[in-house]
Amino acid sequence: MSENNNVKTVARYVNLREVSESGDDVLVVGGGGREHAIVAKLRQSKRVGRIFGAPGNAGMDVTETGIGATDIDRIVENVAENPNIRLTVVAPDDPLSMGLVDKLTARGFRAFGPTKAAAKLEWSKSYAKDVMRRYGIPTAAYGAFTDIDDARAFVSGGKFPVVVKADGLALGKGVIIAQTKAEAFNALEEIMLDKKFGAAGNEVVVEEFLTGYEVSLLTFVDGKHFSLMPTSCDHKRALDGDKGLNTGGMGAYSPCPLFTKDLLDKTVKTIVEPTVNAMIKEGAPFKGVLYFGLMVSGDDIKVLEYNARFGDPETQSVLPLLDSDLYEIMNAVIDGKLDALDIKWKNKKSINVVLASGGYPLGYKKGCEISGLNDVSDDAKVYFAGVKRGDNGGFVTNGGRVLCVQAMADDFASARKTVYDNIVKIKFDDCFYRKDIGSKL
Ligand SMILES: Nc1ncnc2c1ncn2[C@@H]1O[C@H](COP(=O)(O)OP(=O)(O)OP(=O)(O)O)[C@@H](O)[C@H]1O
Ligand SMILES: [Mg+2]
Repeated sequence: MSENNNVKTVARYVNLREVSESGDDVLVVGGGGREHAIVAKLRQSKRVGRIFGAPGNAGMDVTETGIGATDIDRIVENVAENPNIRLTVVAPDDPLSMGLVDKLTARGFRAFGPTKAAAKLEWSKSYAKDVMRRYGIPTAAYGAFTDIDDARAFVSGGKFPVVVKADGLALGKGVIIAQTKAEAFNALEEIMLDKKFGAAGNEVVVEEFLTGYEVSLLTFVDGKHFSLMPTSCDHKRALDGDKGLNTGGMGAYSPCPLFTKDLLDKTVKTIVEPTVNAMIKEGAPFKGVLYFGLMVSGDDIKVLEYNARFGDPETQSVLPLLDSDLYEIMNAVIDGKLDALDIKWKNKKSINVVLASGGYPLGYKKGCEISGLNDVSDDAKVYFAGVKRGDNGGFVTNGGRVLCVQAMADDFASARKTVYDNIVKIKFDDCFYRKDIGSKL
């Protein structure tokens, strides 16, 4: 016991010396491409020292702690034992919904991300809709139900298609667009009776089907002030032409050219400001990244959803455009001082395309050797997600979304060419990717 304590003391001493020489340590919770993009941007800050990952991944250039992103008690302990960790960045939805930021803050540690109460905008769709209704924020008409008969009655009295959503977090799979009453009833049964998404389906939201095009708007919010990131556009379906199954996202670009300055101004006035102010009135001021999923038709803009975090893979296109210090921004968010910063963005176009394992989003192989990474040119960047070290020291596949290739340039055509010219150099068994990301720009 005492020996252990000694070791800890020594470790602390050594760590503290490192701080003064090389900056603050940061712990990033999560281990996908989004987290890699966050880490890459944090690395550019002179104030950041070592970066740890909970869990991180082998390609991310972090010290992997072996602690899972939802193992929140161990994460808190790890931060407590390493006083050099001056910031914990909570990137994924699950630990936010479990209250990791609340737990860290209660112990006096600095954490980037919303509290559990503020993250409810994401982890309860019925709460999000209720907030939008009460504060007059434009969104699809809806009903929220805990009783399946009430939900059936609502569906029967409405139009088709209709959108059926599990209330809680369901890895992007809890949304069903039902073309007929039978399909809607079937979706309600799967969610509410069969509990296909577990407790996420204790309540459902049934929504009017909206048409138009989708835009993602990510914002930094410090409780009171906000700062917009460039808009972006995600591609959820597995295959070209938006065919195939829904995935976590197969590629993205930023900014979204269709979304004009006028539309952005209108969004700020009718959606962003009212939401930030609503959360203050709710007694749950939002601090972190607030992600507005928008549906746009002409000059009509409605909220499809809120996420309480950076999106994946939008982040891998958006954050490379950031020309300011992300560590400074995150600290300003925590301190409620975002208004004191002048955050700069590169005036460039950015695209990323995900390379996935054959079979994803269903079953797929793991452990396939990845080759060609050294041939990737300097003007492209690889963000790693499902990878680990193989026996011979190189990377092998370890997930559905394996990595993404990102590039930026003055125009989309050049950025796109750089991405696809480099993708063909990277090889692993059964690799697939979409060939049409940004093809219409
Ligand atoms: N009311 C609607 N009308 C038309 N399409 C919709 C509607 N609601 C959702 N969708 C479609 O379903 C997708 C997923 O919906 P939503 O964003 O609410 O779910 P989610 O599971 O939280 O997604 P994510 O994984 O992006 O967080 C949307 O991006 C959109 O394409
Ligand atoms: Mg969502």
